[in-house]
Amino acid sequence: MPTAIITGGAVRLGKSFALYLASKGYDIALHFSKMRPEAQSVLDQLNGMGVKSKGYTCDFSNMENVEELLNKISDDFSDITLLINSAANFIQENIEETKSQNLLDTFHINLFSPFILMREYKKKINQGMIVNILDERILRNVPTFAAYSVSKVGLAHLTRIAAIEWGTQVRVNGIAPGLILPPAGQDDSYLKRESKHVPTGNHGSPENLINGLNYLIENSFVNGEILFIDGGESLNPGYTFPQQLQ
Ligand SMILES: NC(=O)c1ccc[n+]([C@@H]2O[C@H](COP(=O)([O-])OP(=O)(O)OC[C@H]3O[C@@H](n4cnc5c(N)ncnc54)[C@H](OP(=O)(O)O)[C@@H]3O)[C@@H](O)[C@H]2O)c1
Repeated sequence: MPTAIITGGAVRLGKSFALYLASKGYDIALHFSKMRPEAQSVLDQLNGMGVKSKGYTCDFSNMENVEELLNKISDDFSDITLLINSAANFIQENIEETKSQNLLDTFHINLFSPFILMREYKKKINQGMIVNILDERILRNVPTFAAYSVSKVGLAHLTRIAAIEWGTQVRVNGIAPGLILPPAGQDDSYLKRESKHVPTGNHGSPENLINGLNYLIENSFVNGEILFIDGGESLNPGYTFPQQLQ
């Protein structure tokens, strides 16, 4: 069976990707920052679906262990064909507010760790596809989540140059989600409120992203593509994110 590696797979979108891929028959190498009940629950669900799965703890703010992660996974699984870089932090600080430690953590988690995982995937696996989970705001100049946005722009650029460097062996694509799930501490009223900034007037769902993921998996001639699944939000230059999430 092919194996998919999913970073940030214990909760929310990463969990949705893992469960979907398991339903397609993939074995799953599930990464999370630390073992906790949510992570164990996903592993139990994967187990119940009859696929091979294993959890891997790695804190991406500490770079030392990241290189080793791919070694561990490739020791445990033979036919790895997919890496999904979904783990990220999301800190609301504009440029002036950005704390130096948050800047470092954001780049470590959102850009440097995916960079190292991609590099190691190319060296050790050298087949299949990498999908980087980006954000529709890479097309807009929104200062509210400054370090986050810059890290995702960097990851988008990395996606494209890796697609050129590695296309004969490993396809590299991205998904840029828009308004899908409310940020930590928010509920569905946040989605309703923010939907007014989306040209389609609504918010998306994890299933919309899974649909895009499936397209990238199935279409072997798609490489270096960034799929914007955002209801057209990235096309709206007049949009300004509220200064404070309410
Ligand atoms: N939600 C949306 O509507 C939306 C919109 C645009 C883009 N995105 C992007 O989609 C991806 C998934 O979004 P999400 O909302 O599901 O994300 P999330 O709930 O914020 O969780 C992301 C994952 O990142 C992992 N993570 C955070 N800090 C980490 C660290 N120090 N080391 C290792 N892992 C760490 C977390 O792992 P643990 O749980 O194990 O700590 C978590 O599973 C992200 O890349 C995000 O930027 C999401």
